Amino acid sequence: MTGAPDAASPWVRICEGRAHVGSVVEVRGWLDHHRSSGKVQFLVLRDGSGTMQCVAVRSDLPAEEWDALGALTQESSLIVRGSLRADARAPGGVEMGLQSVSVVSVAEAYPITPKEHGTDFLMDHRHLWLRSSRQHAILKIRAELIGALRDFMDAEGFLLVDSPIFTPSACEGTSTLFETEYFDEKAYLSQSGQLYQEAAALAFGRTYCFGPTFRAEKSKTRRHLIEFWMMEPEWAFATLEDVISLEERLLVSVVGRILERRAEELKIVGRDTTALERVQAPFARMHYSEAVERLHAAGSPFEWGGDFGAPDETTLSEQFSTPLFVTNYPAAVKAFYMEPDPADARLSLSCDCLAPEGYGEIIGGGQRMASLELLTRRIEEQGLPQEAFEWYKDLRRYGSVPHAGFGIGVERTLAWIAGLDHVRETIPFPRMLNRLKP
Ligand code: 4AD
Ligand code: MG
Repeated sequence: MTGAPDAASPWVRICEGRAHVGSVVEVRGWLDHHRSSGKVQFLVLRDGSGTMQCVAVRSDLPAEEWDALGALTQESSLIVRGSLRADARAPGGVEMGLQSVSVVSVAEAYPITPKEHGTDFLMDHRHLWLRSSRQHAILKIRAELIGALRDFMDAEGFLLVDSPIFTPSACEGTSTLFETEYFDEKAYLSQSGQLYQEAAALAFGRTYCFGPTFRAEKSKTRRHLIEFWMMEPEWAFATLEDVISLEERLLVSVVGRILERRAEELKIVGRDTTALERVQAPFARMHYSEAVERLHAAGSPFEWGGDFGAPDETTLSEQFSTPLFVTNYPAAVKAFYMEPDPADARLSLSCDCLAPEGYGEIIGGGQRMASLELLTRRIEEQGLPQEAFEWYKDLRRYGSVPHAGFGIGVERTLAWIAGLDHVRETIPFPRMLNRLKP
């Protein structure tokens, strides 16, 4: 095969093709599929930015190049050169008239074929599955979501302050901690960056972190990952009400941006976007006790005082077309740091946001305990080591203020926005119960 680099034919990405119609360019990518009609061969190339059809005419190519083209396998990597022309029928609206090809590497028989594969097979081949158009669409929406979350917080005046991953203590309860060695000490992988955000918020007023978090949850559901990404804002002098309205603005903003900028990807994954267009303020909202009554009305034997399971959240969130805020959960089902509800000491100033269409919880948050005395008692009651929390208690010793915040899980939010029935496709390499590979 021929094809020395040629200054006259610049390397362009397929997504930029339209701007180069009429000129000769080079495209570098992988062979998605090809077909032949005797005198003409059609190669569909994928370069990560799009797909493009290249048309090779027998009489335009040396015989050995023509024959080599015919023998190419799916996923072989190629550098093609030719002139671009507009063609409304072609994917991306542009087609290449092939002038030369150089084969970078001929691929072995590719395991993912157009036939239906089972989920386990695809998950085992996740490193290759990422090349499919559906996975491209999902991960592009993920990137947009992350950008939208961060841009929104920046615009609201929150400072990005990273929380650590190695931590000396639990944030969300000891049952789901990943323990590891830290030289001569024990350390745990972070379940949440929240406690450090509280310190950051008392230093900077408004902060957020964005990073991976880890939970050794033995749950095998469509909503549980072992490693997932969270954005966690924390706001000094703010109350539960302040963060609820911040969550509402945040979701309206990110859903609006994805509808606007990722319409094509939403179409590829088959999302009904009219459901997303209904994500407008004000969102539905109810007290925990009302949520329990609604579960009873729906025929559930749920007992007041317990935490909602996934089926309960599904029942509740199916009843609304906007996300639903459920507030004032019993303190007993929430973490030690929740501020008690002044109206009912059994409850806490907490709020979960449940995504509609049955998706359930995507955000957890609330107002934090401001009193040193009460916090010390809660740590004691939960059997947590006081000593590990002395630094956290300092935040109540030196200028304690009411403060509040929340954590939004990227994967659950993405599953809802993209209309996916499982979180396994929302993250490039999912870590689940029974899955650590690839
Ligand atoms: O409700 P959670 O446990 O809240 C916290 O961790 C707080 N410390 C956050 C804060 O106030 N700063 O988790 C928050 C969100 C959930 O609503 C959900 O979206 C996501 O994190 N999440 C998970 N996502 C996937 N797999 C899991 N196992 C998850 N656990 C929580
Ligand atoms: Mg929660």
